[in-house]
Amino acid sequence: MSETVEPSGFPRIRPRRLRQGSAMRRMVAETRVHPSDLMLPMFVREGLDAPRPIPSMPGVMQHTRESLRKAVVAAAHAGVGGVMIFGVPAEKDATGSGAIDPDGIGNLALADVTAEVGDSLVVVSDLCLDEFTDHGHCGVLAADGSVDNDATLERYADMAIAQAQAGAHMLGASGMMDGQVGYVRTALDRAGFENTGVFAYAVKYSSAAFGPFREAVESALQGDRRSYQQDPANAREALREVELDVAEGADIVMVKPGLPYLDIIRAVSEHVTVPVAAYQVSGEYSMVEAAAANGWIDRERMMLESLVSIKRAGASIIATYWAEEAARLLREER
Ligand code: PBG
Repeated sequence: MSETVEPSGFPRIRPRRLRQGSAMRRMVAETRVHPSDLMLPMFVREGLDAPRPIPSMPGVMQHTRESLRKAVVAAAHAGVGGVMIFGVPAEKDATGSGAIDPDGIGNLALADVTAEVGDSLVVVSDLCLDEFTDHGHCGVLAADGSVDNDATLERYADMAIAQAQAGAHMLGASGMMDGQVGYVRTALDRAGFENTGVFAYAVKYSSAAFGPFREAVESALQGDRRSYQQDPANAREALREVELDVAEGADIVMVKPGLPYLDIIRAVSEHVTVPVAAYQVSGEYSMVEAAAANGWIDRERMMLESLVSIKRAGASIIATYWAEEAARLLREER
């Protein structure tokens, strides 16, 4: 008979002892999500008079410049660690000119927000062309219609300078072009922005979970991004992407999406010494919101469980559309 069992046959060792009561559970919890771990992605749309709801993302808005500024202040009050700003221009073109224009919506919004928040939270830009191009790709196109990697890097460098000038604390390099981190780092350093960080979307899978985001930024994309975003079948490739980004100067690396890629978050967090972030993307958010709206799932429990799971997997920073609400809930819990 085993030592774990009494002669009676009943257990001597009882893991359930540590699960009795919320004080006990709280004391032995191995993972805690703190409000400052969370980053709130936000959208600002050129030419709006009032915030406009995004139908596929219940509770998320396209902001005006003014409502964005107020919403960022509210997020800071809730204790959220950072915000990510996505600009949606009224007009798009082939090269995404609005991304580079200092008076483009994204750059104006970055300037508004950074002037407002001071040091109370971290402001991250989106350094990618897809919100600004009329074909919806993350870069500029070659004559044959393919995405031209190196021509895109030149655009990213110009965009990086515009965002740094607008005051962004970190630039969210999210386009999945080869060499983008190094190219942007060099451009920033040459222009005297050596303290502007690069927040690298190092590992970004070509995912169906970005669907609602495409509506949020009014993306014109036909087709898909499989020639530059990663194949969901590959894990070792994620480590290669991360190694390159760190070598090129990434300050933080991110894995995206979150919940379907917990194994990748774990592997990346064991592989690098820079902070690791994960992006709980639009589709992950909308799936839970839709199920909850039908009464099929407990919304708050699913929200908090998904966040603790992503953190447990190894991400110390989580980008989530629930950041502000989750921050408030986490404060009440204590
Ligand atoms: C690129 C970018 C995308 C998202 C964040 N940055 C779109 C894409 O990569 O296709 C998606 C985020 C989400 O789905 O919530 N600008």
